[in-house]
Amino acid sequence: MHRILITGSNGLLGQKLVELLQVNSSVELLATSTGDNRISQKEGYSYQSLDITDREAVLAMCKAFRPTAIINTAAITLVDLCETEQELCQRVNVTAVGYLLEAAIAEQAHLIQVSTDFVFNGQEGPYRETDTPDPLSIYSTSKYDAECLLTNSEYANWSIARTMIIYGIGENMSRSNIVLWARNALRDMQDMNVVGDQFRSPTLAEDLADGCWRLVDRNARGIYHLSGPETMSILDMVFKIAAHYGFSTEKVKEIDTASLGQPAARPPRTGFILDKARKDLDYSPRTLEQGLELLEKQSPIGTA
Ligand SMILES: NC(=O)c1ccc[n+]([C@@H]2O[C@H](COP(=O)([O-])OP(=O)(O)OC[C@H]3O[C@@H](n4cnc5c(N)ncnc54)[C@H](OP(=O)(O)O)[C@@H]3O)[C@@H](O)[C@H]2O)c1
Repeated sequence: MHRILITGSNGLLGQKLVELLQVNSSVELLATSTGDNRISQKEGYSYQSLDITDREAVLAMCKAFRPTAIINTAAITLVDLCETEQELCQRVNVTAVGYLLEAAIAEQAHLIQVSTDFVFNGQEGPYRETDTPDPLSIYSTSKYDAECLLTNSEYANWSIARTMIIYGIGENMSRSNIVLWARNALRDMQDMNVVGDQFRSPTLAEDLADGCWRLVDRNARGIYHLSGPETMSILDMVFKIAAHYGFSTEKVKEIDTASLGQPAARPPRTGFILDKARKDLDYSPRTLEQGLELLEKQSPIGTA
């Protein structure tokens, strides 16, 4: 029997983990996030409010629940916000991971830390787990520093799940994602400026949740790359979404990253090599086309 504690359960990945694990009879699940539970389906798990930056609360909750695994999905994920809110970014993305590691050690639990392709500088993607990180922004550095807390620890029962461009449909989300934005903007024939010089592997949130569960279930340790199977430019992603729905791309204008003038630097070309996850976890993520088919079943474009 697994006793799994999820942090950030109101987020997109958190919600998909709850959806997956609440029906798993081998899992006793405690979902936690800041504030109230924003997931409407409340059966098959319990929920408690937890701010991971509160060390005493983290340690007390873990002591009471005695998790065998902790999956940390909570983070400040708005990359540009981290440039201006550096203290907040450090507190949530790094310091709090130290508290979760402390709690994991106390309970001898498996700690799964979700990380990002942004730990790389994007000069030589696609990347393997063994490639050398070189983070370019405050957010990226915070996620890499959190990784280092685990990799430099004497405690060995951890895994790092690196991912990128997570998409999917959640409830009452505090942020959107690129695929939902694009399908709505294309449907509404809005003017769209889309970068053609950033390459990524879009990741269906359900597949990432499944990958995290496989890490727990197989007690896989170390770093794992868990993304979608195809690497493409953001512009091609938008074209594929348009083609899927038969929408016009007349209003889509290609731009380059430099012209956006975003506060945080982005790695130009990432993408992951998934061999390790495929071999160790039988991880088999869906293509963007297959992901769009699932989204269409969950929420037809007319109603999104
Ligand atoms: N989204 C991506 O494309 C992407 C790419 C690469 C890596 N990642 C990583 O993947 C993970 C999950 O991403 P996601 O897209 O699911 O993120 P998300 O939707 O932004 O969810 C993050 C959740 O963490 C919660 N949170 C923030 N501060 C917290 C705190 N102090 N204590 C407890 N919960 C807190 C947020 O609460 P509120 O809802 O109240 O804000 C939110 O529900 C993150 O670690 C992220 O760094 C994401």
